[in-house]
Amino acid sequence: MKMGILRQLQCFLLMGTMFIVVAIIIYWDDVTKRTFYIPSAMSPLPVFPIQVLETPLDLKSSSDQSRWSVKPNQTTLTTAQKYILKDQGSNNQIFGQSSPTDLKVRQAYRTDIVKELCLANSSLNFPGKFKSFEKIPSHALDHLIVDDRHGVIYCFVPKVACTNWKRIMIVLSQNLKAPDGTPYRDPLAIPSYMSHNATLHLTFNRFWRRFGRASRRLMHHKLKTYTKFIFVRDPFVRLISAFRNKFDQPNEDFYRQFGTVMLQRYANISKPPGSAQEALAAGIRPSFQNFVKYLLDSRTEMKEPFNEHWRQVYRLCHPCQIEYDFIGKLETLDEDAEHLLRILGMDEQIRFPPGYRNRTAAKWERDWFANVSLADRTKLYNLYEPDFRLFGYDKPETLYQK
Ligand SMILES: *[C@@H]1O[C@H](CO)[C@@H](O)[C@H](O)[C@H]1NC(C)=O
Ligand SMILES: *[C@@H]1O[C@H](CO)[C@@H](O)[C@H](O)[C@H]1NC(C)=O
Ligand SMILES: *[C@@H]1O[C@H](CO)[C@@H](O)[C@H](O)[C@H]1NC(C)=O
Ligand SMILES: *[C@@H]1O[C@H](CO)[C@@H](O)[C@H](O)[C@H]1NC(C)=O
Ligand SMILES: *[C@@H]1O[C@H](CO)[C@@H](O)[C@H](O)[C@H]1NC(C)=O
Ligand SMILES: *[C@@H]1O[C@H](CO)[C@@H](O)[C@H](O)[C@H]1NC(C)=O
Repeated sequence: MKMGILRQLQCFLLMGTMFIVVAIIIYWDDVTKRTFYIPSAMSPLPVFPIQVLETPLDLKSSSDQSRWSVKPNQTTLTTAQKYILKDQGSNNQIFGQSSPTDLKVRQAYRTDIVKELCLANSSLNFPGKFKSFEKIPSHALDHLIVDDRHGVIYCFVPKVACTNWKRIMIVLSQNLKAPDGTPYRDPLAIPSYMSHNATLHLTFNRFWRRFGRASRRLMHHKLKTYTKFIFVRDPFVRLISAFRNKFDQPNEDFYRQFGTVMLQRYANISKPPGSAQEALAAGIRPSFQNFVKYLLDSRTEMKEPFNEHWRQVYRLCHPCQIEYDFIGKLETLDEDAEHLLRILGMDEQIRFPPGYRNRTAAKWERDWFANVSLADRTKLYNLYEPDFRLFGYDKPETLYQK
């Protein structure tokens, strides 16, 4: 009898001890994983706690958002509304004022498409889709501009109103002083060449130099808590815009670096003129179909990656690794800019500069592609398909009809 009770007691004691040990282990794990501090000696940064995620690589699972974030009310979306929004977003239509609800639904629709296509089992695959954020080298994060004052991250895409958004990032960050010694407040007062001066923008690829080993953790923290935005446009229209801007009008740098290569390889001109001015005088310039050939040629990227003016958005901005809160489109630029500035709480202080002159239009597409063979059009679509699909642009069927 007595022995039995003693055994039972021993057993309880053992179980209790084990329970406590397990509890301590779990608690300890929790404490060490959750919070730690950057030692103040490591960087000139003010010391503040950084929340490290249980699974730091999984940015997508984070649903808690800062006060800046867009949180569309998904439950209020009807299929019909989504459909209407799709029409608005992907075509070059001019349409009237959208209500605040329309704008919210539009954002929910755009961000949903990206989310769906980024799933492992989606119908879209492209190089780097499954790469973790950790594995993206710093130099590939050079298009992400950070503003710590307002908690904003902007991924700039050349040929998509990026000059004006860079100006706005300069105004937000107060990184540039006007001649009177105060930071610029009016975006348009900032000269356009200044907006592209890299020293004025804190980009992710410069974190390493500034923050050393803490840089990735800082990036994670900022990506989790800041409002991240991007502006995109129809991929083929962007290509035409890039061509018009860099090759249709003389541009010495682009002529020497790319134009001469195109002329040699695809226009059968073995010794192209030495400068864009001489080429202009001689009536020689690369054609749009030469440009397309250049993009499709496997030799092109062996030398170096696509120039940022024609590099795919998915390669510039990593939309499957970085969960953008706001996806603006050039086709709806004015409305989207106003909407975004309102979300950032800056609509009182900043006005987005009015649209620029003679913007490349989708309806010119057929003319520009007139001399591009059907085979090349198909290859070009394949090259840019991820951008078309991620950002909800329809394949331009008229280019593929015989
Ligand atoms: C979201 O929509 C649901 C259903 O219509 C509604 O009950 C809820 O109040 C909405 N929430 C917000 C934050 O608008
Ligand atoms: C893909 O997976 C998600 C969840 O993992 C599921 O909800 C969705 O239905 C799947 N889609 C397809 C096309 O299998
Ligand atoms: C860029 O800005 C920095 C600092 O304002 C200035 O020193 C530098 O000359 C500028 N570079 C160019 C190319 O304008
Ligand atoms: C290229 O030019 C050379 C001489 O300039 C000419 O002999 C040759 O036929 C041309 N080839 C093509 C494919 O036009
Ligand atoms: C706009 O650009 C197109 C194509 O480059 C050109 O034909 C047209 O004349 C331009 N229009 C204006 C108003 O500059
Ligand atoms: C297509 O080729 C024709 C004839 O060579 C030329 O007149 C036209 O300008 C070309 N179009 C484009 C967009 O390059």
